[in-house]
Amino acid sequence: MSEWAEVAKRDEIAPGQAKAVTIDDLMIAVVNLDGEFFAVDNICTHAFAVLTEGPFTDGQLQCPLHGARFDVRTGAVTAPPAWEPLRTYEVRIDGDAVLVKI
Ligand code: FES
Repeated sequence: MSEWAEVAKRDEIAPGQAKAVTIDDLMIAVVNLDGEFFAVDNICTHAFAVLTEGPFTDGQLQCPLHGARFDVRTGAVTAPPAWEPLRTYEVRIDGDAVLVKI
């Protein structure tokens, strides 16, 4: 069963920034891309690295370990060595709250 979880206040994540959140055993990156919010798994699919510890540029999170890149809109890999996409999560805004469907 899925549910909506509040992960941040809208003004807490400025455009171009990413926030790491943990809900139960899920590690999720919530990002603000030009005012639109997206959420993806925060663990690289190549090995174990936390994506929000790397740069977030051009709508992509870059893994700090070996440099794989992921499109935050789709979870797709945009640069190797990872090949599996990230899981994505639905996001909605409720007033000033950012919610993620988990
Ligand atoms: S762990 Fe992310 S690219 Fe290797």
